[in-house]
Amino acid sequence: MRHLLSIASAAFTAALFFGPAFGQGLVEPPGGASSVWDTTRGGELYDEWWAVIEAPEPTDTHPAYPAEGKKSGATTWRCKECHGWDYRGKEGAYGSGSHYTGIRGIERMHGAPVNNIIRILRDDTHRFTPDILSDQAVQKLALFVTQGQIDTDLYIDRGTKLARGDAANGARYFQTVCAVCHGYDGKNFNFGSDAEPEYVGTVASENPWEALHKIRFGQPGVGMVALGALDIETLIDILTYAQHLPTE
Ligand code: HEC
Ligand code: HEC
Repeated sequence: MRHLLSIASAAFTAALFFGPAFGQGLVEPPGGASSVWDTTRGGELYDEWWAVIEAPEPTDTHPAYPAEGKKSGATTWRCKECHGWDYRGKEGAYGSGSHYTGIRGIERMHGAPVNNIIRILRDDTHRFTPDILSDQAVQKLALFVTQGQIDTDLYIDRGTKLARGDAANGARYFQTVCAVCHGYDGKNFNFGSDAEPEYVGTVASENPWEALHKIRFGQPGVGMVALGALDIETLIDILTYAQHLPTE
């Protein structure tokens, strides 16, 4: 309890210095965490977890990352780099191309007991030891794996990459929620470069699985809203609308 209080007061002090964005940390919400919040934070950790917990970025390449893989360094520590945005690893979008690792997905662990997943994350393959990810963090990741995963094939056509939602309904949400930060055309932030710009429309069209993951769980460490509490049909509608936004 004292430990929790000191975390809470550190968070309060930090909030004074760093402003509201600090709420992105792993500090528990007052009054206790909802299961949606826990699972949502787990989904956010599936990406660049160090940005979520404000830890230093890894400098080495993950020991389980295959030698024939094309990536190196910090990105190889992201769950998504080995298991994919569609959670299907080599059987999904990462079955070929620059993200290929030959590693299986995590979809078989949907519904598995939390403790089994925690054991996997702490094992000699994953090496997410407590000094890297706290018990709180691995618990949230395990909740995401067992409860937060969805079968993306139900909502996104794998061949055409088109989301199967209602764009008109999605527009209502995009324009009242997302546009505040991204603009009505989704172009306020360029996630790419001047030469190869990337906007909400680009990600939604080219990597709908990543866009959906981020709509549900947010973007690590930047204070993007996470809409995981809404029903999945609404989120697919938002994704469908985002696929109509300009890509360049
Ligand atoms: C560097 C690559 C790599 C990273 C990063 C990685 N994993 Fe894995 N993961 C593996 C490998 C390899 C296996 C074992 C696959 C096998 O048995 O063929 C595995 C297996 C799993 C399994 C069991 C899947 C099954 O069906 O048995 C789960 C769950 C899992 N990982 C979750 C995660 C989560 C959550 C993260 C992020 C915190 C993560 N992994 C990060 C490589 C990785
Ligand atoms: C409170 C502000 C805010 C809101 C609201 C918001 N976002 Fe974001 N979003 C951000 C920021 C900041 C980034 C990271 C920008 C960067 O890296 O340059 C981001 C990143 C993204 C990315 C990731 C791009 C990438 O490849 O890294 C996508 C996709 C995205 N947002 C879509 C959405 C959608 C769709 C909505 C509405 C459901 C939404 N965002 C709502 C602030 C917001």
